[in-house]
Amino acid sequence: MCGIVGYLGRRDCADVLMDGLEKLEYRGYDSAGIAVFEGNSIRTVKTRGKLKCMAQKLAEDGKPEGFCGIGHTRWATHGEPSDINSHPHSNGRVTIVHNGIIENYAELKEFLTEKGYSFVSQTDSEIVACLLDYYYTGHDRMSWGASPEGRTDAPQSKLAPDPLRAIMETVKELHGSYALGILFKDFPDRVYATRKGSPIIVGLGQEEYFIASDIPAFLKYTKDYALLDDDEIVCMEKSGVGFYDVHGIAVKKQIHTADWDIEQAQKCGFPHYMLKEIHEQPEVVTKTLDSIVTDGVPDFSGIGLTDELLRGVKRVFVVACGTAMYAGIVGKYAVEKLARVPVTTEIASEFRYMDPIVGEDDLVILVSQSGETADTIASLELAKSRGARTLAVVNVKYSAIARGSDMFIHTLAGPEIAVASTKAYSVQIAVLYALAFRFAYARGIMPESEMKRLTAQLYGTSKAIRDVIDNKDECQFIASQLMNAEKLFFIGRGFDYALSLEGSLKLKEITYIHSEAYAAGELKHGTISLIERGVPVITVATQRHVLAKTVSNMEEVKARGATIIAVCRKGTEFAEGTVDIKLELDIGDELDDMLIPLPTVCALQLIAYYTSVQRGIDPDKPRNLAKSVTTE
Ligand code: F6R
Repeated sequence: MCGIVGYLGRRDCADVLMDGLEKLEYRGYDSAGIAVFEGNSIRTVKTRGKLKCMAQKLAEDGKPEGFCGIGHTRWATHGEPSDINSHPHSNGRVTIVHNGIIENYAELKEFLTEKGYSFVSQTDSEIVACLLDYYYTGHDRMSWGASPEGRTDAPQSKLAPDPLRAIMETVKELHGSYALGILFKDFPDRVYATRKGSPIIVGLGQEEYFIASDIPAFLKYTKDYALLDDDEIVCMEKSGVGFYDVHGIAVKKQIHTADWDIEQAQKCGFPHYMLKEIHEQPEVVTKTLDSIVTDGVPDFSGIGLTDELLRGVKRVFVVACGTAMYAGIVGKYAVEKLARVPVTTEIASEFRYMDPIVGEDDLVILVSQSGETADTIASLELAKSRGARTLAVVNVKYSAIARGSDMFIHTLAGPEIAVASTKAYSVQIAVLYALAFRFAYARGIMPESEMKRLTAQLYGTSKAIRDVIDNKDECQFIASQLMNAEKLFFIGRGFDYALSLEGSLKLKEITYIHSEAYAAGELKHGTISLIERGVPVITVATQRHVLAKTVSNMEEVKARGATIIAVCRKGTEFAEGTVDIKLELDIGDELDDMLIPLPTVCALQLIAYYTSVQRGIDPDKPRNLAKSVTTE
């Protein structure tokens, strides 16, 4: 969701901000803007629309000239996408950009209106600029109180303008989540930022400093960064960067160095990030496995996930959102099949409010690419409060979920820029398989030799994925048959069902074709009434022990006029007339059926990708979607 950048240094600030915003485009947005100090005054340029609209506006109005400023891409929550609602917002002597939601904005607005402030936008964010100004211009908390009941209109003691104090006072009043980049008109060589629940990363270059929602925004200039923690404040000025806690006390921060470079965050000759990221899967699966396999078997003892702990676990919950949750379903099937431990996969936004029966004997696995998804973070907190052990399977090191969990497995997909998750899903399921093997071994169900064999097979999926990518023309052909469809279905059984869910999500999110995924045996309990002549039904049919059953379900829909596209192992035979298009995965006979989701999902991703492109959609930036969902 919204992207924040800020810069202080010697470069052309507007260029740095625009460049940073471009790197954050993947987060999803509908408007953009920048504010830059021109001498002692702040000039803001903002507009509804994509960055090319901003670039046009800058060309028409003239680019603000200066070395210090903030920028923003907005994903509308309060108030429609419009020029006025775009950030930055200014009020009084303060200009801000905001990511997140201020839940008590209506109450704050009422108070500030009483105090004589007026507002031009419909956003919750403008209230923050106002409240900052209120405190900055010398009002102290005597006029406000800790709660609405506590407010008084007692005489105000005017304090000297102090940005740090103003921020400290303001954040005490804010309910909800926020990351804020802040300029104070009286300090033309300073950028402030603070956060709660939404990320702010501080880039530390040579006499130049950055704030951003994500590292790619400044990676071109520096690899060194510090992470702002909840409630901390950063002040960047020419002499250096200062970090402060909620009481204004200076804090020392650890400096990290990004272990990937700008190349990895660029398209490298691919037309889209999504295609590039699909191609990276063989490599990142191997890399991730290398990080969790020792002497040919998965070993998690280094993060505290010992065999003893695994033996003691009574139940497992996998909690996540969207694609990460669908990866969790593959994990559930694998852990239950091999380790015979009950696993429940939960949607994080449900888990957090359903008063789940979870406690000390349970292991709660939080799966997330970004590690910043609001509902998954809340689920983590809930699981911890109930005494459960928590394990993060997360792609972004130092993210909230990675840092907040008892144990953390770092998936090594590298930066995933395309909104639709691909390589992150593959590494998530690779880790969950490896976990299933170790689980089964730890519980005495699987001998070490079998764990070794399966681990070698898991490594083998990397080649199988590459084989699927090598045959991408077939996926492109299938896409040409789907591009005019109004609706379609995915069906499958067992692991194929889990994959159907992901294949369907991928396709609908980037093609806008209505797609549903069903357990193949479930269609006739209602949904089959939607099948009519020509409706494509993509049948994932790789699981040999249920193949005959899946074929019966294909025939049921075929009899009602569906066009059947079967995704299956090479050499799978179907009765004549059952299948219209066969996508045979040429992955060899050796690969265990249980592990076929890794190459198969790649085929489904490619079908979704090419269908999107053939429909003239940018698959990297589907409408209405954000990469990192930091609000509920
Ligand atoms: C779909 C997609 C989303 C994410 C979901 C969770 O392609 O990417 O469904 O999987 O928003 O995000 P993370 O994994 O960052 O928690």
